[in-house]
Amino acid sequence: MAPFRVAVIGGDGIGPEVIDEAIRVADAALRRDGASLEWNRLPWSSAHYKQTGQMVPDGGWELLQKHDAILMGAIGSPDVPDTVTVNGLLLPMRRRFDQYVNLRPSYLYDGVQSPLRDKAPGSIDLVVYRENTEGEYSPIGGRLYQSMPAEIAIQTAVFTRRGCERIMRAAFEGARRRRKKVISITKSNALVYGMTLWDETFKDVAKDYPDIQTNSLLVDAAAMDLVRKPEVFDVLVASNLFGDILTDLSAIVTGSVGLAASANINPERTYPSMFEPVHGSAPDIAGKGVANPLAAVLSVGLLLDHLGLTKSGDALRSAVAAVLKSGAARTPDLGGSAGTADVTRAVLAAL
Ligand code: NAD
Ligand code: IPM
Ligand code: MN
Repeated sequence: MAPFRVAVIGGDGIGPEVIDEAIRVADAALRRDGASLEWNRLPWSSAHYKQTGQMVPDGGWELLQKHDAILMGAIGSPDVPDTVTVNGLLLPMRRRFDQYVNLRPSYLYDGVQSPLRDKAPGSIDLVVYRENTEGEYSPIGGRLYQSMPAEIAIQTAVFTRRGCERIMRAAFEGARRRRKKVISITKSNALVYGMTLWDETFKDVAKDYPDIQTNSLLVDAAAMDLVRKPEVFDVLVASNLFGDILTDLSAIVTGSVGLAASANINPERTYPSMFEPVHGSAPDIAGKGVANPLAAVLSVGLLLDHLGLTKSGDALRSAVAAVLKSGAARTPDLGGSAGTADVTRAVLAAL
């Protein structure tokens, strides 16, 4: 069988640093499936934009589409506006490739200290299913009377029944493989159009899953509960913006955003899915060799699963868990003093 082809976009800041480590770990893990992957590295980034004037070169989307999956570091740099970079590559990709399921697991690993008091290993174990193609992120609106005192900005959120339904179904299906609880994140007390459609769709979809326990929480209360009693959460389903915010929160209560993996999935497999850490380009630590590579490593683990290389994915996760448990190599975000490469070495040794 021809090897799977993966497009690699390291991107900006710590993106390329952590992605290189993730690929080294994946190559080692792949022996478990007797498989190999072809990594096709693309230079697309803010620096590349400054040279070429394009975030995605002509024919770039078609090129990406020829791959079985996409591995991404992070996009965003202090010297180029996010309106150009993030909005020229990351967000259009999620929409163009209909990656409507943004899957973001959070797990409190043995050996990792939660900033919350007295949390046992494994006591926080949740997955957020974030809607990834519409909602509050829809680029619909405009600016009028720019730079004048009467300036107006209109930013329209778009909620469709189809969009709500398909992310909710994905969440319910996911819950069937877990503890069978889905909590819907809403704000229909204030957002009386989009979020009431969200709530009604949730009730309708839930009827098809009588084996799943459901609840609906207002997003502000959910933020509180993620700190107060995170162990009650199993699967959360959230709109684009709420899912974004809550997944930085779910990352930090399980130790660090440097451990938070994510998958941007097109379940129909019409288009390639994309795998990236939850974190960004971290300009404050870029180039210092101290970024935690494990979020990228665990993201490539999700990529391996997606391609059916689950023995390799499991081996990779076991190795990460063993390193965290032993405390062998911890980067500063986890309270240690190890460098990025030290962590990779420890994971490779555990593999
Ligand atoms: P960030 O996630 O880059 O950084 C937030 C904080 O977390 C920083 O203190 C950083 O040092 C720390 N951090 C992040 N990843 C880490 C890691 N692997 N190890 C150790 N510490 C880590 O968020 P930000 O600073 O708000 O955003 C920076 C840029 O990245 C912006 O341009 C933003 O738009 C972009 N961004 C991109 C993505 C993406 O490509 N998916 C995600 C988030 C932010
Ligand atoms: C993420 C990031 C992006 C998002 C930004 C860079 C637009 O924060 O993947 O969580 O909000 O989706
Ligand atoms: Mn985010």
